[in-house]
Amino acid sequence: MRQAGRYLPEYQEMRKRHSFAQLCTTPDLAVEVSLQPYRRFGFDAVIVFYDILFLAQSMGAPVEFTEAGPVFRRPVAEERDLDALHPPDVHGLDPRTGTGAILRVIGSLRSELPRSTAVLGFAGGPFTMAGYLLGGAFERSGERIRRLIHDRPSFVHRLCERLAAATAEYLEAQVAAGADAVQLFDTWAGVLGPEAFREFALPYEKAALKKAAEAGAPTILYINGGSHLLEDMRSSGAAVLSLDWREPLARARSRLGGGISLQGNLDPAALFATPEEVLRLTRSMLESLSGDPAYIVNLGHGILPETPISSVEAFVRAVKEFQAREKPPSPGSSES
Ligand code: CP3
Repeated sequence: MRQAGRYLPEYQEMRKRHSFAQLCTTPDLAVEVSLQPYRRFGFDAVIVFYDILFLAQSMGAPVEFTEAGPVFRRPVAEERDLDALHPPDVHGLDPRTGTGAILRVIGSLRSELPRSTAVLGFAGGPFTMAGYLLGGAFERSGERIRRLIHDRPSFVHRLCERLAAATAEYLEAQVAAGADAVQLFDTWAGVLGPEAFREFALPYEKAALKKAAEAGAPTILYINGGSHLLEDMRSSGAAVLSLDWREPLARARSRLGGGISLQGNLDPAALFATPEEVLRLTRSMLESLSGDPAYIVNLGHGILPETPISSVEAFVRAVKEFQAREKPPSPGSSES
């Protein structure tokens, strides 16, 4: 997640000429930015360059990306704002009403990259999107939406329902366009306790992921600060749970048992250590799940601006060395 971005000089170079929104919504530019980290580091998967908030924009809530983060100038405050939201034209190429750009980019990436490199699509979790839409921007504490779920629960439910229906269609279209897997970023659902999570986030995660899973794509669910929700996250139907850095992977595995894949979870801040220390921390994370058949290496959240490139190289080196040692026997070389 946040594979591309401001830590890369080649990205900074493109940002001098184009706004973030232009980069995301102009397919040729977005293909180029999506490929930048892949060319430099040789990752096994490429995540399409876009943003979760464009889906809300295509439903009638224009988003602006400011220095201080994304802002909706017309938040969904009243019933009439909610009624004014319309279903997205997921294939449309006008960024004000459609999300077709992401589908084009997925299609180009899938045809350009070798089959062994996965192309990842994504969307925001309905609760997280609601958290942005209801107040214009998200507050870290989640105070506004935590109050609203008690003060105006049916309003929040109606908004999440609308968002979940749009997200389901959107993710299904990404799979049809060539995404090998899709990730749902319900980043802010960790502000909820388990009971509120089960009522206001989980049903909408399930609804958002269902069609993509039916279309045959593995689905991944990420929540930041969601260690207390791990067992509930399992009920989302996601094939993979993506964890932030707070929960040790081995402990997550023992809490969950088998039958579900794990993804994560080095603290992105750890990439500010020396390359030697990054190697050590990454190896130790890998050792902690040594032999686990269902593990995808990742950071525990998006890469931070100013992250040293040498740290990303050290992270990748540690993983590749570990992989070479642990490589499972190739199909056909076993007794079968
Ligand atoms: O990983 C990738 O390279 C794919 C692209 C991607 C972006 N945003 C690009 C982006 C993905 C997967 C996202 C998801 C996203 N966007 C989430 C969920 C995951 C997470 O990080 O928690 C959320 C909450 C958003 C909303 C959003 N977009 C925020 C809060 C911000 C500001 C924070 C920041 O880093 O500036 C953005 C802007 C944004 N989205 C940037 C990028 C590369 C930085 C914009 C720039 O270059 O100016």
